[in-house]
Amino acid sequence: MKQVLAIYPGSFDPVTNGHLDLIERGAKIFDRLIVGLLRNFDKEPLFSLDERVEMLREVVRPWPNVEVEVFSGLLVEYAKLREANVILRGIRAVSDYEYELQMALMNRKLHPGLETVFMMPALSYSYLSSRLVREIAQLGGSIKGLVPPVVEDRLRAKVL
Ligand code: PNS
Repeated sequence: MKQVLAIYPGSFDPVTNGHLDLIERGAKIFDRLIVGLLRNFDKEPLFSLDERVEMLREVVRPWPNVEVEVFSGLLVEYAKLREANVILRGIRAVSDYEYELQMALMNRKLHPGLETVFMMPALSYSYLSSRLVREIAQLGGSIKGLVPPVVEDRLRAKVL
């Protein structure tokens, strides 16, 4: 039987409950799931790469078939290296679709053997994004219920 290895790529700055919802769904239908954290030299993140890896490793602990890894460069090259069959991406609303379609089709052009699979997070997370979570925390708003408790603590400490 063919084993399906999926990569769920992103910046995860920070990981939110929406990401976790998708990880839980992905862990159920794929044999293995790698959460691929992009090392992006262009962006100035709120959390360092090491901090994001630590938080991700802590929150994915309940799923034995989920791992966290850092990658740099092209996603398709990383997928080839890991011999992954699937890229997992979340679509929250129609507004995500255009960008996601463009990336999925470009990735298919670069690596035709790799399939992008889209999953929808729970409706209650459809308005949630890492960017808004960072902004709310930095402006002193409540992020309770939007991120896992470990992230909430770290965010609070970061913006104090
Ligand atoms: O957290 P994000 O910003 O939604 O994640 C975007 C990500 C990491 C999936 C995308 O930027 C990516 O794949 N970057 C790696 C470089 C690459 O392969 N670029 C070409 C994409 S078609």
